[in-house]
Amino acid sequence: MSVQEIPEGIGDLAPEVQATYDDAVRLSDKVVVDGKLTSALTDETFENVNPAWLNVIGSSPRCREADVDHTVAVAKKAFRSWSRVTAKERGDLTRKLADIIEEHADDIARLEALENGNAYTTQARPELDITIEVLRLFAGFASELKGNTVPWLDGTLHYTTRDPIGVVGAIIPWNAPVWLWACKVAPAIVAGNTVVVKTAEQAPLAVLKCTELAQQVLPAGVVNTISGFGEECGKPLAEHKDVRKITFTGSCPVGRQIMQYAADKLCPVTLELGGKSPNIVMPDADLDLAIPGVITGMRFSRQGQSCTAGSRLFLHKDVADEILERTVAAMKNLKIGDPLDPESEIGTIVSQEQFDRVTRYVELARETPGAEILCGGGRPDDPALQKGLFFEPTLIKGVPHESPCAQEEIFGPVAVVFEWDDFTTVLNRANDTEYGLAATLWTRDLNHAMRFVDEIEAGLVQVNQYGAPVSNVAYGGLNQSGLGKECSLESMLEHFTRSRTVIINQGTPDPAINV
Ligand code: NAI
Ligand code: MG
Repeated sequence: MSVQEIPEGIGDLAPEVQATYDDAVRLSDKVVVDGKLTSALTDETFENVNPAWLNVIGSSPRCREADVDHTVAVAKKAFRSWSRVTAKERGDLTRKLADIIEEHADDIARLEALENGNAYTTQARPELDITIEVLRLFAGFASELKGNTVPWLDGTLHYTTRDPIGVVGAIIPWNAPVWLWACKVAPAIVAGNTVVVKTAEQAPLAVLKCTELAQQVLPAGVVNTISGFGEECGKPLAEHKDVRKITFTGSCPVGRQIMQYAADKLCPVTLELGGKSPNIVMPDADLDLAIPGVITGMRFSRQGQSCTAGSRLFLHKDVADEILERTVAAMKNLKIGDPLDPESEIGTIVSQEQFDRVTRYVELARETPGAEILCGGGRPDDPALQKGLFFEPTLIKGVPHESPCAQEEIFGPVAVVFEWDDFTTVLNRANDTEYGLAATLWTRDLNHAMRFVDEIEAGLVQVNQYGAPVSNVAYGGLNQSGLGKECSLESMLEHFTRSRTVIINQGTPDPAINV
């Protein structure tokens, strides 16, 4: 790797932070293929940059077709034996995997915070808890891999099976990489598939470490992780003829491309894509709940880098002033700082590219007549935060509904605010985007709540809370926000298995009708 840089001005590293830097070096230029942390076939690499200080912490193989081919071949070979391991045993091993991840949770979380800027205390470490939960959840579903039997028909036994599909290609993003790794790997392997994961170029290390740890319990080749760029590595993985299922989380345009890659080989895909989700407050809402709900809904403690972020706020005009005043005060109290500082509640935007993208949307709002930045709008003043990709939580009011700021996924700590006074109009507005991922309504009125639930176009609909998807509640977007569900028993059965129909005839003559 290129030389690791310890940033000037950072002071003495705490021992656990030093250990994280050391781990990044150890994992540098490596993939996990066929049971081992090993070199890739390619010599090309790309740098891993810590977004809090813009220093180089390591580097990763820039895998292309050759590494994809090799890794898929390894996974295909492992599939032959893994698919014959009993489902119970696969569940037991996945439970052991959860235990190992739990043992190393602090270290994995620190590595994630170092590479993607998610604050350790509020984001990266809690992400490990839900990762472990997801692994254990799917481990327990092993006993559910069963088909249906049809009652005895004319001396024939009819039944269906639940079989693994083969090699799964999993392409993941950088915003919650470890949890998304588990959401894809756990159902895939419990169902008897093997997996090739392609990490996001902005956050390959924590997932690589998880995959390395997985080798302590899983047979070689069952879970493999390679790194590289979208077109160079993700595309050949998605197109590979031996990849028989693709699971993707990321942007809408890439999701649409993935579906095209899959079309030629009739390969099933699940796509978890973006959103521009509405968060609507009624005049009768309990504001003591709704105001913190605006902040958690925006996922400000993950710098707004969440597909479910409630990034369009619709406040009833009678309560808008009070909500904005109290929300802005609460936002200003959130502590922005080095993601590895346990006191920090907000870390950094993941990359210069995303920082510039967020900045462009805020600039567009500034140039829009009538628009107003109520809070935030750029880098914080704190002299200690001038180097890294820190961005204040931001509220913008007064952009037109058609503005790109109000229609496109910003994927940063920026929400747009609208005032409203007619429920039908606000529901129409809320539905008027290409997305359909999440939506929340705050109200004490059951009629409004039920009408909202009926009419809102969103895959995750909530009333009086703006939580994240919970394990074992199937989750996924409508419209351009995705295809298929994740995180539940049904999603494992529907998306990570295939089924055969079996008829065993015990001597009845063939039925007369043949189809
Ligand atoms: P992206 O969709 O380009 O990247 C996500 C993953 O897809 C990465 O692993 C990337 O290498 C891979 N990829 C990219 N192009 C590919 C291709 N042609 N074939 C196969 N794989 C490919 O997202 P990016 O560029 O990191 O972020 C851009 C925007 O996407 C964000 O601003 C946000 O709006 C959205 N996004 C949404 C996420 C979500 O959780 N739904 C996560 C990350 C990004
Ligand atoms: Mg991209």
